[in-house]
Amino acid sequence: MSAMNQPKSSKPWQHRLSADPDQATSHLLASIDVDVALYKYDIAGSVAHATMLQKIGILTKAELDAVVAGLKDVAADIESGTLAIDPALEDIHMVVESALIQRIGEPGRKLHTGRSRNDQVALDLRLWARDAIDDLLELVRNLQRCLVDLAGEQGQIVMPSYTHMQRAQPILSGHLLLAYVEMLERDAQRLIDGRTRVNICPLGSGAIAGTSIPLDRLSVAAQLGFADISRNSLDATSDRDFLVELCFDLAMMATHLSRWGEDWLLFSTTEFGFLELSDAYCTSSSMMPQKKNADTLELIRGKSASAIAALVGMLTLVKSLPSGYGRDLQDDKRFTLPVVATMRSALVVAAGIVSTARFRPERISQGLDRGFLDATALAEYLVNKGVAFRTAHQVVGGLVAQAESLGKSLSELSLETLRQACEKIGPDVQDSLTAANVVKNYAPSGAGGYQQLKEQLAFWREAIKSWA
Ligand code: ARG
Repeated sequence: MSAMNQPKSSKPWQHRLSADPDQATSHLLASIDVDVALYKYDIAGSVAHATMLQKIGILTKAELDAVVAGLKDVAADIESGTLAIDPALEDIHMVVESALIQRIGEPGRKLHTGRSRNDQVALDLRLWARDAIDDLLELVRNLQRCLVDLAGEQGQIVMPSYTHMQRAQPILSGHLLLAYVEMLERDAQRLIDGRTRVNICPLGSGAIAGTSIPLDRLSVAAQLGFADISRNSLDATSDRDFLVELCFDLAMMATHLSRWGEDWLLFSTTEFGFLELSDAYCTSSSMMPQKKNADTLELIRGKSASAIAALVGMLTLVKSLPSGYGRDLQDDKRFTLPVVATMRSALVVAAGIVSTARFRPERISQGLDRGFLDATALAEYLVNKGVAFRTAHQVVGGLVAQAESLGKSLSELSLETLRQACEKIGPDVQDSLTAANVVKNYAPSGAGGYQQLKEQLAFWREAIKSWA
């Protein structure tokens, strides 16, 4: 049976209303400009729904075949850009359904049985988020691998560590590189954990309260590879915390990348000279011919703004929404789709930067005797001679002040001078002085020395095997 009254507009759901929206209103209502990117998920969801509708007797086998073939046809036309999209249809769900009905007629009109755009969009977003997480996770793993590789190749360079951006204690370069790997590991774990909350099938929830049609929800969920079905239709159609969570995961990851980017920008300055970046990731200046700028690192650092904005946007969108779907939710895609694309590109380029960068050991070692990197180790030497740490701290503080006024490092002070400060100091003190010696003496697991680097590298190499 075809529609009894011809609708004024192309909208199949407009019969209730006496007026069509004007152009500005149509524009406000539409999300097709962004949700067209979800077409594959929308169509996969419809194929699964139709397959189930045939199972429960709503569609005949012939009708199902027509629906599936028609949907494939629509997908191909969207893919090739040949489908004429009428923005008055608002979103990808109506664009696909209308195109299907246009092509196959009556069986297409049965597809939306027991379904609403509310559970349909929740489904599309969950399918999309699941793929996005899998893709992002692979890229995080790749970046981690590049950092571990560099730590394997150039991890044994003794370098300063900094607190308050002032020289602190010496570490091995690998210790720094593997610190980034740890941050990314937590980012990866968050994605993996969040995926379990994404991987739930909302279809069958209808608009808010379900349907009287005896849908086989488990069969739809199984077809689409979901781990389970949602328990509550009201929640399933209006919940977007899985997207808020994804945005948080990306904001945190972007923040980690911004810290790495900031470190590496500093390290590649003339002043530091610790790091040489490949020209492939740098730009020059339109005016200053000598410039080699690490714009890629700056852009990655800056992308944290977009990621944090997306998180704040999503939280604001869902804040104070009453229970049940509200059209505000349509704008979820405007925050989440772009931030995933942004972070994807940041991760890809970051991996390229890391895999082509080289530490400059000669430049790093040149300045190692400045900044009293061995002061803490000297205090600990005194502890080993039976001096209370607080006393040792005072003694070394005095020695640092003395050395500084002489323009010397601690290792350049004579044994006599050292003994004047504390008579417990003996000739064996040399083993605790200089950055190069200090990194040999780090004791506990997790510290910045050779043994600990070996342990960390072994850990990550095993972990990498399990990611493959
Ligand atoms: N395009 C809409 C969205 O993204 C689909 C749901 C519209 N539902 C409704 N009842 N108007 O959320």
